[in-house]
Amino acid sequence: MGRIRLGVNVDHVATLREARKTVEPDPVTCALIAEIAGADGITVHLRIDRRHIKERDLELLRKVVKTRLNLEMAVSEEMINVATSIRPDQVTLVPERPGEVTTEGGLDIISNLVRVKEAVDILKESGIEVSIFIDPDILQVEAAKEVGADAIEIHTGIYAKADEDSKMKELERIYKTAEVAVRNDLKVHAGHDLNYRNIVPILKTPGLVEVNIGHAIIARAVYVGIFEAVKEMREIIDENS
Ligand code: PXP
Repeated sequence: MGRIRLGVNVDHVATLREARKTVEPDPVTCALIAEIAGADGITVHLRIDRRHIKERDLELLRKVVKTRLNLEMAVSEEMINVATSIRPDQVTLVPERPGEVTTEGGLDIISNLVRVKEAVDILKESGIEVSIFIDPDILQVEAAKEVGADAIEIHTGIYAKADEDSKMKELERIYKTAEVAVRNDLKVHAGHDLNYRNIVPILKTPGLVEVNIGHAIIARAVYVGIFEAVKEMREIIDENS
């Protein structure tokens, strides 16, 4: 099995910055540290309301990311214009509902076939690889093939939230969806709600080449970082009082 790429989603770093409308923490700095630590890609979601990642972040990330820049975005004219001007290595098309806390499910390609195909065509003409975030559903995989996507990202949120009784069933759905994608020459990505405990069975997904993880990694960064952060402030106070 080849190396499975780890895409680190740094949106939450920008969320923390925006809590104070200031300049830190900077998602761009964190992206560079993530690359040094072994990330194979950096993922950001430029939301229509710009509540965390801004154009400034995307422009800088495009200049400094040395691995792969993956832009998650809604299927809209505005976002297509941003993507074709910034030219990330990859776009992941996601549904976006105003006011949602996070992406709530996969994109319904079947009900939006023409619009999604138009978006895929434009993005691919600009040399951008296109992945589409879908629920683990074979019909959506076939629709992803029909619109010309390069990859699908399987929504792992239902599996992650399932109780012990239905976890195996959800995992089987993911594996079956991936098998159909492989048969259709689509690359297989996975993401949403993956964490340090639930990721291992997902790594057995047939044909899996990429996982995208945000919340769990940024939450972990707070835990592993707070000790040093408090110690440093304690030392300044002790040395100057
Ligand atoms: N993949 C997609 C398509 C997403 O929309 C998100 C959330 O931005 C993620 C992966 C990462 O999800 P999480 O933050 O739960 O790890």
